[in-house]
Amino acid sequence: VSSAPSGQLEQLKALCPTLSVGVLSADLSDLGRQVEVLREAGVQVLHVDVMDGCFVPQMTAGPPLLKALKGVPLLKDAHLMIDRPLNKVADYVAAGADIVTVHLESEPAHIHRVLQQVAISASSAGREVVRGIALNPGTPVDAVAPLLAEVEMVLLLAINPGWGGQKLSPEVRPRLDRARELIAAAGRTILTCIDGGVTRENIGEIGSWGADLVVTGSAVFEGKTIERNFRSMFESLRKGR
Ligand code: DX5
Ligand code: ZN
Repeated sequence: VSSAPSGQLEQLKALCPTLSVGVLSADLSDLGRQVEVLREAGVQVLHVDVMDGCFVPQMTAGPPLLKALKGVPLLKDAHLMIDRPLNKVADYVAAGADIVTVHLESEPAHIHRVLQQVAISASSAGREVVRGIALNPGTPVDAVAPLLAEVEMVLLLAINPGWGGQKLSPEVRPRLDRARELIAAAGRTILTCIDGGVTRENIGEIGSWGADLVVTGSAVFEGKTIERNFRSMFESLRKGR
């Protein structure tokens, strides 16, 4: 009997390379069924984009949405595009997020402390949470180096955050290469993730760049052929590797 990997990081690592599907691109009036369709299609990670109307112009749902997804047996990846997350991350851990990703730009003075706070919240809740650090396209990748002792994932935005359906910036490729160099030097298990502008056409190439997780929103839901879209994107991602 092969034992299933325990702990969120081990579970996630065992699934990589894989897609993390952005639920905000789903038909939100029918979220429960849409998630069921994703699960049946083979999706294993859900990406929940949280926007506060300050860090990015739009607003979406916060912990209540994650709480609503608590019973869904998939890993939940909360991408927090919110200002000053220090006092808010505990709510996302409590709401059942398996991955909590905060933006390096969102807590200028204390981002290191925010990452520690995620770990403190997780340990007081008696669970493991994968800590992600996200970087906007205009933030130098090397800024992540001093934080690598406190993260298990580095997420690079391939677009300016705030909206789905934008075009991927080619700059993200050298940025990913640099992030992977920094991670190798840090000597810890740290996954990489690309978010934004991923399409059925470019996913194979992105797979060949070596990212562990690739977020996709609009491309999976296009044409309402969710299962077919996901399966073909997943296959291209794996083939590109
Ligand atoms: C952007 C979000 C992304 C994005 C993905 O603010 O972080 O997750 O919505 O959507 P697509 O795949 O449509 O670019
Ligand atoms: Zn996102």
